[in-house]
Amino acid sequence: MKHSARASAARVIAEVVQKQRSLNAVLAAALIPLPENERSLCQQLCYGVLRWQLQLQAISQQLVRKPLKAKDGDVAALLLCGLYQLRDMRIPSHAAISETVNACKTLGKPWATGLINASLRNFQRNQAEIEKNIETQESAVYAHPEWLIQQFKQDWPDHWQQVLSANNQQPPMMLRVNRQHHTRQAYLDKLQQADIPASEISACDEGILLDSPRDVYQLPGFTEGDISVQDGAAQQVMALLNITSGLRILDACAAPGGKTCHILEQHTDNEVVALDIDARRLQQIEQNTSRLKLQATLIAADASVIDDWWDGQLFDRILIDAPCSGTGVIRRHPDIKLLRRPEDISNLATQQSVLLNTLWPLLKPDGLLVYTTCSALKQENEQQIADFLRQHPQAEEHIADKPPAQRRTYGYQRLPGDDDLDGFYYACLRHR
Ligand SMILES: C[S@@+](CC[C@H](N)C(=O)[O-])C[C@H]1O[C@@H](n2cnc3c(N)ncnc32)[C@H](O)[C@@H]1O
Repeated sequence: MKHSARASAARVIAEVVQKQRSLNAVLAAALIPLPENERSLCQQLCYGVLRWQLQLQAISQQLVRKPLKAKDGDVAALLLCGLYQLRDMRIPSHAAISETVNACKTLGKPWATGLINASLRNFQRNQAEIEKNIETQESAVYAHPEWLIQQFKQDWPDHWQQVLSANNQQPPMMLRVNRQHHTRQAYLDKLQQADIPASEISACDEGILLDSPRDVYQLPGFTEGDISVQDGAAQQVMALLNITSGLRILDACAAPGGKTCHILEQHTDNEVVALDIDARRLQQIEQNTSRLKLQATLIAADASVIDDWWDGQLFDRILIDAPCSGTGVIRRHPDIKLLRRPEDISNLATQQSVLLNTLWPLLKPDGLLVYTTCSALKQENEQQIADFLRQHPQAEEHIADKPPAQRRTYGYQRLPGDDDLDGFYYACLRHR
């Protein structure tokens, strides 16, 4: 198989769209055989095209009269890559067109060169009219599936457009400074010395915003564990957990370990049990804890089947960073828009409720259980906690001294893009 940035991007996009595979998984494998200097373009094309897929698709339908066969999903995806370059990238149009046409041969489909060439040139000539034709299609305009647009409208009647627009932005890169190594200011000084412009994130104690994303290995002290990559919204969970020394803590849905490590960085003497149902993802926690030189007890298990993993000792803190729709982090994972189905939301809400109900009895009296999701949908968030509190009179909501986000009837909701952070929901429950 031959490789080039554009051909590989087309293959990755076709896998995500047709086989419903996750972008992260497919892209990581596709980057390996590419020359170093082609990887960034491949990555930009995959993220950009999937971010705007529903819009680009509506445009391409006007350019290709006879729909392509399913086995030519890579050619269909390549056309979207061409359109994305012409509309949204700073690549000269002649180069964008000729390189995209050349990629047909790399895909082993030289018959498609005429089709791609004619379609892209047609788009160039008639762009204004073609774009006007999609203005009435909501799903194309906002580049979100119709069911999700309706759900955001229902949940956030005054903010749905703002949410959709934030979901289509390129996310900034944020870091968490390991407080066992440096203060935030000391690390900012290190960045300045390395000529890497950055500033602090006011919403959290250890957060840093980089002016522009870069490879982690270019950042001072990454290998030595000075920092981790984590959005500021995820870092805010720590304030609610109120970690002091000498605690026994359960991180029930822990992989890849962002919050496990953050918990351990607060006080390294705490006993942290980190569970994840996915044994392969648990290995990522191991990689992270070993880079940061931290120690947790890692267990691959379904947290809701407590007989499989619990040693009978109660916990001072429980974090349920629940499996969720990911509708708060679409800007980081644009494939969510194509992979999620409407019925997923109720299924996820059921799983979340099972986790809450089974883990609650494992909390010590006066202990804290923090429930979080990176969802922007009420069913997974404030409605979930409202139901839980109704069914558990011995649980009460613990009100944060410093609210992490907008106060809701129960918990706190950060909508995607608020303060330029990810969308996140937080609730802190105390055992009376
Ligand atoms: C939102 S992610 C957690 C992110 C993690 N807390 C972090 O900060 O890096 C949710 C995780 O829950 C895990 N999961 C889903 N259902 C689970 C269950 N029943 N028991 C344990 N883990 C589960 C998934 O495998 C996934 O890794």
